[in-house]
Amino acid sequence: MATVIVIGTQWGDEGKGKIVDLYAQEADVIARFQGGNNAGHTLVVKGEQTIVHLIPSGILHNGKICILGNGMVINPKVLLQEIDELEERQIFPPDTKLFISEYAHIIMPYHQRLDSARENRKGKAKIGTTGRGIGPAYEDKISRAGIRFCDLLDDEIFREKLKNNLEEKNFYLTEFCKEEPVDGEIIYKEYNEYADRLRKYAANTSVIIDREFKKGKNILFEGAQGCHLDIDHGTFPFVTSSNTVSGSACCGTGFGPTKVDAVVGICKAYTTRVGEGPFITELTDETGERIQKVGKEFGATTGRKRRCGWLDMVLVKQSVRVSGITGIAITKLDVLTGIDRLKICAGYKTDDGVFTEHVPSNLKVFKNCRPIYEEFDGWADDITKLRNFEELPVAAKRYIQRLEELAGVPVILISVGAGRNETIIRKSPFEKKG
Ligand code: GDP
Ligand code: IMO
Ligand code: MG
Repeated sequence: MATVIVIGTQWGDEGKGKIVDLYAQEADVIARFQGGNNAGHTLVVKGEQTIVHLIPSGILHNGKICILGNGMVINPKVLLQEIDELEERQIFPPDTKLFISEYAHIIMPYHQRLDSARENRKGKAKIGTTGRGIGPAYEDKISRAGIRFCDLLDDEIFREKLKNNLEEKNFYLTEFCKEEPVDGEIIYKEYNEYADRLRKYAANTSVIIDREFKKGKNILFEGAQGCHLDIDHGTFPFVTSSNTVSGSACCGTGFGPTKVDAVVGICKAYTTRVGEGPFITELTDETGERIQKVGKEFGATTGRKRRCGWLDMVLVKQSVRVSGITGIAITKLDVLTGIDRLKICAGYKTDDGVFTEHVPSNLKVFKNCRPIYEEFDGWADDITKLRNFEELPVAAKRYIQRLEELAGVPVILISVGAGRNETIIRKSPFEKKG
């Protein structure tokens, strides 16, 4: 029995969905703990692709408990669309149970409106959000004005909270943003229908996780985004509005940190970023384009082209530190096949010539850092069919070994293709103290 947290070590889209789907085979409970439908997690099973935004990536396995934790912000319309789609495709497993925390906050139409209005006002200085209303929904949570799932389910409370919120939001939308107001009656009716359909999934999910834990079940926590999009530890303000680091799994589900056994950091074999913000190892040349094309680096949520660059171990090392990562899962190693020379960034030089192994807090300093690279031979052989570390080309093994040395923790898995089985497993995190 073990408890495992999976998180992204970079700027999101590291392949968390694929790895969570794979690990879910061994888990009994799979819980999301932060973020909302800004996430897009891709699962590929027997060649068939499923993208989930809110539902945990364990959903394709039968007999599991899938939880949307209290730390999430949930758009009920998107959640219902996801449930409907899985049911239409007849891939919602009959014995899998879905639960939504009564404490999770709800994304309202005015959150989305505010998200895009703010981005528009910022112009060139925009963050490049997913436009899903994530920031404004978390703002309301922190300011204690937000509507929780349990509030949505209580007609009296919902009406009252909606009314109070609308006064403020419509004032802001019309007076400050010079936009049209939102219509309270339409929202009330629409959300009432969502409440009716979602009521059966409502639960105190902390109690459920605790109950399963006490039965000796394996618990898997699924992070969204990545450590460098964390509101505290990321490249602020070019971040998302939640804590994406491993510690968030505990507050985002109501589970104590003393019961966590392993933290797996998912690390793409190179670096990508969607949206704005500094990216020290970004490649704007042919190699960057090649990685973008071969890696099919398009956002799973917004379809935007992902910016691509060399592997930045300064970022990954920080994630190991901040999240207490015990093992790294490398993804998309196959995408680097065929590139003659590879580079790994092991440190930065700031504008005034100072060497640093840490991400500078001052964005101006960070933006002007230059990468210090180590160079490696590439490999040309197809590695997608390999299932054993020893079979990898020598150059690929060297690349991984250096990554491992720089990270200071073992590489426990190497993904060589999008499919569930296209994976080299060195150690399961469910073996205690992974
Ligand atoms: P997530 O947000 O971290 O779950 O990642 P995304 O699903 O947004 O993006 C990862 C993309 O890479 C998806 O299209 C996956 O199907 C794909 N993928 C995951 N692992 C691998 C891999 O090892 N090789 C290749 N070629 N694709 C992969
Ligand atoms: P997954 O879980 C990559 C980025 C957005 C933007 C910033 C803020 O699939 O890895 P937001 O809408 O959250 O306010 O946007 O964060 N972002 C992601 N980038 N993967 C994600 O999720 C992301 N979720 C948000 O592009 O730069
Ligand atoms: Mg994604």
